Parts: sequence; C-alpha cells; structure tokens
Amino acid sequence: MFTADYLNVKNGHLCAGECDTVELAKTHGTPLYVMDEDTVRKNCRMFKTCMEKNYQNALVLFASKALNCLEMCRIANEEGLGLDVVSGGEIYTALKAGFPADRMFFHGNNKTRDELCLALDNHIGTIVVDNLFELEELNELCGEKGVKANIMFRIKPGIDAHTHDFIRTGQIDSKFGLALENGEALEAVKEAVKLPNVTLTGLHCHIGSQIFGDEPFKEAAKVMLRFYKQLKDELGLELADLNLGGGFGIKYLESDQPMAYDAFMAQVAVIVHDFCKQNGLCEPRILIEPGRSIVGAAGITLYTVGAVKEIKNVRNYVTIDGGMCDNPRYALYQSAYTVVNASQADKPADYTATIAGKCCESGDLIGENIKIAKPDKGDILAVLSTGAYNYSMASNYNRNPRAEMVMVKDGKARTIIKRESYEDLIRNDI
Ligand code: LLP
Repeated sequence: MFTADYLNVKNGHLCAGECDTVELAKTHGTPLYVMDEDTVRKNCRMFKTCMEKNYQNALVLFASKALNCLEMCRIANEEGLGLDVVSGGEIYTALKAGFPADRMFFHGNNKTRDELCLALDNHIGTIVVDNLFELEELNELCGEKGVKANIMFRIKPGIDAHTHDFIRTGQIDSKFGLALENGEALEAVKEAVKLPNVTLTGLHCHIGSQIFGDEPFKEAAKVMLRFYKQLKDELGLELADLNLGGGFGIKYLESDQPMAYDAFMAQVAVIVHDFCKQNGLCEPRILIEPGRSIVGAAGITLYTVGAVKEIKNVRNYVTIDGGMCDNPRYALYQSAYTVVNASQADKPADYTATIAGKCCESGDLIGENIKIAKPDKGDILAVLSTGAYNYSMASNYNRNPRAEMVMVKDGKARTIIKRESYEDLIRNDI
C-alpha cells in the first residue's frame, strides 16, 4: 500500500520520517506539505552515483521547477548537483540560497529581457536557448553588457513519449525548442557559431515528464547523437555537452513501475560510448535533469477532513481543507494518487471516496474512487507522492493562503516554508 519507505504506521497513525503525521498536523496546521530529508538526499545521491558509475563525465541537475525553495536549492548544492532554473524567480531563489551561478542552467521557451539580464548580470553558467529570437536578443544583450554567454540549444528530437498531452514536449508540435526534421535546429547552430557574444557548448532535449519506459529516452539519445555527428560532418563542430533532460516516472500508485534508473543510465552510457567510437566523435559530457524523481516520492500532503457527504447511489465526497490550491494536478491532468487516512492507518482501506477540495470549482478534486479507511470529521488524510509539482504549482485561488512545508528527519520536523498569512495575501494590494 505505502509507496515510500520513510512511511510507516505507529499506534494507528501514519508516520513520516519517524514523525507522527497526526501530531504534525496538530502542531503545524493543515494543509501541510511534509518532505522527508533522507529520501530527497538519497535520491540526489542515487542519480549522482548512477551517472558517475556508468559515465564518468556527467553532471546531474535538479530540475527545480519540481520544487524550488531556499532549502531545496541548499540541499541540491550540498549534494553537488547542478540546477535547472526556468524563471527569474527560480534564479533569484537559487542565488539567495547560495547556489553557485556557474552550475545553473537557465531554461524557458520565452525568457523575458529582464530575466536574461538577471541571468547575465549574475553570470548564470549556461543559457539554454529555445529559439532564434532569443538567440538574437541574447547576443545583443551580451554585447551591450560586454559579456559572453555559454549557450545550449533546446532541440525537439521528434520523440513522442507516451504521457499526458500537457506534459509531452519532444514532438514537433511543441512550443519548446527547435525541430530537427525541418532543419531549423541546424540553421540555429550555424547562426550561433557566427555570433560574437555567445559560445555554443552543447544541445539539450527533454521529451516529457512522468515517463515509465526507457525506450523513448534511448531513442532521444540516439537522435541527438546523430545530430552531433551531422554537426561534425557538415560544420566541423564538436560540442562538449549533451543534456538529455529529465522526465523519469515515479510511483504514485502501487501499480506504477518506475524504471530502474541505474540500469537505464548504464544503457545510455553504452549507446553514447558506442556511437562516439563508431563515428570518431569525442564523447560529450552527459547531463540529466531529474525533478520529479528526486522530490516527488519524498513528499506527502496532510489535510483535515471536513464534511463527508454520502450521496446515495452517486458517490461519497470526503472534503478536505485544501485541494487544487495546493495540488492542482488532478484538476489539470487527472493524476492518480494514493491517499491514506493517517488517523486510522491501521484500518482497512475499504471505503470508496472522492476527495474534494474547498475551492469553488466542481473540478477541485484530489481523486475519485479512492480507497481509504472510512474517515470521521477531523481525521487527517495523507496524500502520498506530492513532493513534486504541488507546492511549485500552488496558487492563492479563492484567496487561500499557501500551505506550510516541513522537512522531517529522525523524528524531528522543521519548517522550511512558512504558511502564508492573510496579511501576506494583501501585501501587494493597493
Ligand atoms: N528539464 C526540462 C527542460 C523540463 O521541462 C522538465 C519538466 C524537467 C527537466 C524535469 O522533468 P521531471 O524529471 O520532473 O519529470 N507539472 C507537470 C510536470 C511538468 C514538467 C515540466 N518540465 C506535472 O505536475 O506532472
């Protein structure tokens, strides 16, 4: 039933990182995001070790869009990862956390001029350029500032990964990056090498998120390598870096089967070694950018149950004091979750519930037909695997303050993001 090994049951209550979640809810209030520090660090190390073991010249970046806050940036730094940042806000947070600018990679399909300036002024290591408009603007800005920027290009490798439509990005019909099939990627490279203020260090691709099979990733690696060969053959250009993106699926339900990351990396390493050897190419440094697979399963969200509306022959609505404001993923993608009645965690999960949030939207649900132990008003529900794309996608809809986040470790919890107050909500109102 449980999808993470930092969770267990003591005295009928769900515990996370040896903390009783019902006590956590009492002390910190709900909704409450709970992150397990050991799991986050273990995941960082797993990817790092996996890359170092299989392909020495490698760098793992944490895709901070999955969870960007000061403490997560500090942890990623302490664990020796690089950072994928995708907005001025993510850059600002990472800098404030003391994350070294040279290990940051700035992504985004429509970076604003202000964001590009922020990146240049703070010497962000690499800018992953999405299109020719951006290339031109960046070259011009660098000229004005008298600096030179390292850039990579975001490439659409033409791989159609089987995941939700809204989180597929590798196919030609995507707002992200430059296509290979119509020659625009090649044109962009030709243009970049002519420009005086940018240095093209490599190429990047990202085919989507929450992907289970390893085939699409291997296919993308091969497509990218063929393009590296084409660049060498046609332009005499050998690029130092190849970023294969993130997107590795995690377990939300018992039936989900994430790939064995280690075995996957070993296969990618073989693909790169073999291709480079056969084609006389220098082996590039390989970068990967996991987000969800570092923080997703390390987090849970706690809610307090309010009304339980049993509508005969229709369904049972179990209402909670959060919902789409702190987790919009069901409303957006019908994402499935495992939910546990944390107050009665030793009871059988034999009650069928639709977990409904408190926003004025019928679609504000966390899940439908979920099996939990029958809840009483005031029980604490725990939604599992909410560490990625929950806090980072939270909103203040209906003027709900954003929830607090605690980090648990060895039976202790410390607040890493404070709960917003009503005063916070009107701070920028005039
Ligand atoms: N690199 C790039 C360029 C990306 O766009 C993303 C995710 C990642 C890396 C990290 O992917 P991950 O390892 O976390 O799958 N909000 C959606 C997910 C959107 C993913 C956006 N890009 C969700 O809640 O499922």
